[in-house]
Amino acid sequence: MLTKATPIKISANFHPDERAVLFHGDCLELLKQIPDGSIQLVVTSPPYNIGKEYEKKLNLDQYLEQQANVIKECVRVLNEKGSICWQVGNYVDNGSIIPLDTVLFPIFHELGLVLRNRIIWHFEHGLHCSRRFSGRYETIIWFTRKSKDYVFNLDPVRVPQKYPAKKYFKGPKKGQYSCNPLGKNPGDVWDIPNVKSNHVEKTEHPCQFPVELIERLVLAMTNENDWVLDPFLGVGTSIIAALRHNRRGAGAETVQRYVEIARERIKKAINGTLKVRPMNKPIYNPDQKRNNLTVAPWSQPNTTPPLLKIRQIIDA
Ligand SMILES: C[S@@+](CC[C@H](N)C(=O)[O-])C[C@H]1O[C@@H](n2cnc3c(N)ncnc32)[C@H](O)[C@@H]1O
Repeated sequence: MLTKATPIKISANFHPDERAVLFHGDCLELLKQIPDGSIQLVVTSPPYNIGKEYEKKLNLDQYLEQQANVIKECVRVLNEKGSICWQVGNYVDNGSIIPLDTVLFPIFHELGLVLRNRIIWHFEHGLHCSRRFSGRYETIIWFTRKSKDYVFNLDPVRVPQKYPAKKYFKGPKKGQYSCNPLGKNPGDVWDIPNVKSNHVEKTEHPCQFPVELIERLVLAMTNENDWVLDPFLGVGTSIIAALRHNRRGAGAETVQRYVEIARERIKKAINGTLKVRPMNKPIYNPDQKRNNLTVAPWSQPNTTPPLLKIRQIIDA
């Protein structure tokens, strides 16, 4: 972790010797400053083209063309052992959903990259739909170059074993613990709370990453001092996740207000005062915590659900 003794300045432009680069402007302009092969991890959540306050809705072909221009540049700056993680949800067209990872995959494939995982990021909170099941996951598509020599550090991201006390019951290892004491592979379905109003990291940005989501990618796919780049930076989460683990972070953001928030958050991350939800903290379970809001008033003795009460009055 970085300490107050580590002097880090936030630079406005990219230079390989910097540690934190916050570029205010279009990501293609930042990418132009970055030499070939110098980034170890590109991680981002691009606009989904659904008419959020920071985007102009385009038709799907125009959107994909725009994305392809950015992805092509990201591949140019990617190190031989590097990774690209593109985190996306659905584009909605006249009530029909189009999972963006399915339409973006061919762009990466054409550029010679290999899909290593399609990670399902599952969370509990979001819009309540009335004409389809409410969406409660998004995906992260993780690509590397064709070589199998890409960086993948499993140990720092292992999660606790389900049955750590389990032993081999036969064979030469009989009696020994059968699982890895460092924990198990986290798998490709990740339960990580999304940043909604009660989340400790919430800012005014409508769809920021939780820091712990990016920390897992940073720890697994980079080593200390490597560069992490987020072309669609928002309020700085990817740079924060990088700096918290002694990596370098760079990102571009077009909206001035988000750049300002990113700068304040990055400064706090540098001096150790940024509040973040710790990695692997168990998800809040209201039943276990005996939260009294989990008890429906109409399930109490002598109470009747309001709608049922009305029905009874009508039927009487
Ligand atoms: C889905 S948000 C990313 C939020 C980010 N993951 C975070 O944790 O804050 C996408 C961001 O990309 C920004 N953006 C859109 N087009 C851009 C461009 N061409 N260059 C740089 N940023 C852009 C938007 O303003 C928005 O903040």
